[in-house]
Amino acid sequence: MVDKSKIIDIYKKKVKNLIKHNKLYFSKDSPIISDAEFDKLKIEIFELEKKYSFLKKKFSINKIVGSPPSNKFKKINHLIPMLSLSNAFNKSNMEDFIKKVKNFLNFNDERIELFVEPKIDGISATLIYEKGKLIRGLSRGDGVVGEDILENLKTITSIPKKIDSKDVPDLLEIRCEIYIGKKDFLKIKDNFANPRNAAGGSLRQKNSSETSKIPLQYFAYGFGAIKPLIFKTQSEFLERIGIWNFSTNPLSEIINGLEEVENKHKEIDRIRSSLDYDIDGLVFKVNDLNLQKRLGNTSSSPRWAIAYKFSAEKALTKINDIIIQVGRTGAITPVAKVEPVTVGGVVVSNATLHNEDEIERKDIRIGDTVTIQRAGDVIPQVVSVDLSKRKKNSKKYLFPKNCLCGSETKKELSKNTKKQDAVRRCFKGYDCKFIAKEKLKHIVSKEAFNIDGFGKKVIEQFWELGLIKEPPDIFKLDYDKIINLEGWGELSIRNLKKAINKSQTISLDKFIFSIGIRHIGQENAKILAGFFGSIKEFSKIFELKNREKLLKNLVDLDGIGETQIESIKNFFSNKTNIRITKELIDKLSIKNFSLRNNDGKFSNKKLMFTGGFKNMSRSEAKAIAETNGGKVLGSISSKLDFLVVGSSKPTQKKIDQAKQLKIKIILEKEWNKILDG
Ligand code: IVH
Repeated sequence: MVDKSKIIDIYKKKVKNLIKHNKLYFSKDSPIISDAEFDKLKIEIFELEKKYSFLKKKFSINKIVGSPPSNKFKKINHLIPMLSLSNAFNKSNMEDFIKKVKNFLNFNDERIELFVEPKIDGISATLIYEKGKLIRGLSRGDGVVGEDILENLKTITSIPKKIDSKDVPDLLEIRCEIYIGKKDFLKIKDNFANPRNAAGGSLRQKNSSETSKIPLQYFAYGFGAIKPLIFKTQSEFLERIGIWNFSTNPLSEIINGLEEVENKHKEIDRIRSSLDYDIDGLVFKVNDLNLQKRLGNTSSSPRWAIAYKFSAEKALTKINDIIIQVGRTGAITPVAKVEPVTVGGVVVSNATLHNEDEIERKDIRIGDTVTIQRAGDVIPQVVSVDLSKRKKNSKKYLFPKNCLCGSETKKELSKNTKKQDAVRRCFKGYDCKFIAKEKLKHIVSKEAFNIDGFGKKVIEQFWELGLIKEPPDIFKLDYDKIINLEGWGELSIRNLKKAINKSQTISLDKFIFSIGIRHIGQENAKILAGFFGSIKEFSKIFELKNREKLLKNLVDLDGIGETQIESIKNFFSNKTNIRITKELIDKLSIKNFSLRNNDGKFSNKKLMFTGGFKNMSRSEAKAIAETNGGKVLGSISSKLDFLVVGSSKPTQKKIDQAKQLKIKIILEKEWNKILDG
């Protein structure tokens, strides 16, 4: 006989737990258990319900899991995208950063003046002032579209609502980081995992009077749109906005040279714990705004700034188990399930072990006592094993040779280095359902289809229930089934439908990125989109004969190398990939790739460079050509419009070839004139 009351008790506890974690994940953005643990809890509840029918009637968990997608705030396009920063972790990374900046600018002995600021670990926001009046306040969102959180931002008393000064630019966009002081956090800490989540949660309150209850603060660190630009340097900008009553960080200063960089990093690291706000590194910026402009951005981060991170926080714990995870490119990643431990304010129960070689090198075993570390948003990792605590009967960990789907895994031989890859992979692509699931997560992500409210959790939920297996299923969802699921109601379904509908119009570059060809990131997808121009042209790649020809042509593209070409070839040699890509195309309206600048000086022109320039590096010249609408090729062909010849050591063979093909040659002097004109 089953003890009904005991089962009800167990069930009630699990449901209570689920409600708690669900709230932490969806409403507060601060999960304290891993996704896998969350799912396990969910499954346990489902199983109990399935087994004991008396439970369902009493305490149905319907509408617990998941919260409706956030539709709280109006979405508004940023005037200028909010990018992220690239990271440095040591002195040598910083040396590389300085070198890269100097190379790009073609500086030799000239010094580069840097400006340093603490990197506040908070939530970024942007404030727009027109004629000195605060008219808009947005969250970062996906960097391109933000959320209108003006009312909540206005509750921060130290944010000026009006700037009383004659010389304030007509349009001024102030970028800032919102945080909660460590002392203030102590008062409310029961509800949040760490100050950052508390600030995020507070800013996302629907009712701004809720926001006003939590003492938020901010530091302004930069500007977005600005007209007219009246500042010459970052230091001057911060000084001036300080006078206009914005709060700026007092630890910021001008820095010269690598030694000063390193000293400042050490100095702030030492006093870090005594500050009333969390910082996870220092941001070093090129101080001169003119040089910043010349350096520009890559697709994700400015070339003129870098975050020099502090070393990660560490903790001791025990490995209870080692499991493997399959990534979207088939990479098999071992993960240590560890005894939950708090690292820098966050409870950690999973830590990555990177790959098979790493486990072998460190001889990591189940049952070991290990040091784990967590830095910023990066997945916590196992750094070392305490061998003195190892039990005598401990056994070496045997890395599974098969994927979760059962098929054999392999380590590739790198064509470049001739070395064996450290990562084991499953090569089944969509035919491995675990890879397929990860590909689905990629395709709905912000950088790809950007389907609002369709995050990793939802993919897991739908995948688990067999509602989606492959990307085209996103557009064939059976909403009648979804409406009966936990966490879904009419409103959230309506929002989901709307978001899916919206995602069906997509630019060619995003589409190419979305289909998930290995080694084709956002930058490469743009280059390829520029080459193909339209989905019609791109679709020619499905035919083997065309493909071979097209792949040969890709060699000409600057930025696309053998690795990428090989990867594209592999991707389209797989029939399932072709079928899925075609099915997706049928469901989508894919916009032709338009060059960012249609009235640029090199619009629709193809250029190639040879030789060095006096005033600028090759990278800068290339960036200028691209922002002016041109395409830069890597080899001479009849498609080329201009060969730009720098005066320092140009390749004569290229010049001769260009002459033969009657390609216009632009000499350095002329190039400079075009740019000035
Ligand atoms: S400068 C990318 N300066 O870090 C555009 N960012 O990872 C230039 N942050 O989104 C950013 N303190 O939210 C800059 N002193 C500081 C910062 C800072 C915190 C945040 C910011 C940005 C993120 C980039």
